[in-house]
Amino acid sequence: MTLKIRKYGDPILKKKAEEVKEITPETKELILNMVETMQKERGIGLAAPQIGVAKRIIVVETGKGPNIFINPKIIDKGREKIVGEEGCLSLPGLYFKIKRSKEIKVRAENINGEELKIRAEGLLARIFQHETDHLDGILLIDRISFWQKLKLKNKIFK
Ligand code: CO
Repeated sequence: MTLKIRKYGDPILKKKAEEVKEITPETKELILNMVETMQKERGIGLAAPQIGVAKRIIVVETGKGPNIFINPKIIDKGREKIVGEEGCLSLPGLYFKIKRSKEIKVRAENINGEELKIRAEGLLARIFQHETDHLDGILLIDRISFWQKLKLKNKIFK
């Protein structure tokens, strides 16, 4: 089932999402809905709060199909940072230049609750940083400067 994407201004996007303690049939259904919604919206990543559930789950399009990460945590960041353009399904039509670590290490659980450790770089590292931000209530708009926000004010701060 595809669900409506929560947009900028919805309070759930500002909330810190809760750790998943047990993977229940409901968790699996939620994950399926996340994957279907991401694919319908042609996104490359989606976090559970974006469909209205404050749980620490993200789905990421890795190029080889959707991957699921439960309780993802960035455990290491490389020193090098790079600027890249990012969009967000919760901020439709807007793109921002965001500085992110080029390389990261992530620890998460898979759908069976088994621990995963992933090293990611480039676009994949960027997607992980963007999606884990969502779990902490951080949006792209919180990562840009005051001056960048001013330039945008006619578009979003009506
Ligand atoms: Co986003």
